[in-house]
Amino acid sequence: GAPVEVDIGDLKVGEQKVAEWRGKPVWIIRRSDEMTAGLSKVDPELVDPKSEKPFTMPLPEYCNNAFRARADHKNIQVLVGVCSHLGCSPSAKFTSGAQAGLPDNWPGGYLCPCHGSKFDLAGRVFKNVPAPTNLDVPPYMFLTDTKIVIG
Ligand code: FES
Repeated sequence: GAPVEVDIGDLKVGEQKVAEWRGKPVWIIRRSDEMTAGLSKVDPELVDPKSEKPFTMPLPEYCNNAFRARADHKNIQVLVGVCSHLGCSPSAKFTSGAQAGLPDNWPGGYLCPCHGSKFDLAGRVFKNVPAPTNLDVPPYMFLTDTKIVIG
């Protein structure tokens, strides 16, 4: 599939945009500094905190870090929005645990409506859910601070 250009100039902190690439939804999320800094706190609750096991594509090497994002734009997360269980599209749950029907200490992430798999704000899967692997991170690059290319 052809690369897809996405303008993220209007993407606010804590918000997500959805693009389409190779027929799949791709999410672009602008995390807050707090969200990005808090990622490592949930590592013990995750199946594969270091993303060693790919789902359908290898993690781009420039995202092989604690943020699963390009280091020079570490608050911008790009994920393929397809659950690694049976392919539903998880919903963003950036709100508090109470609002999302999740524990109060829920830091925000994604919840798959089909069978309840949970993912953190970097698309990493939590333990004890049906999804076996983290969500895919597609290849992407920044053309400018407000324009990215996926693919
Ligand atoms: Fe997402 Fe089953 S498809 S939990």
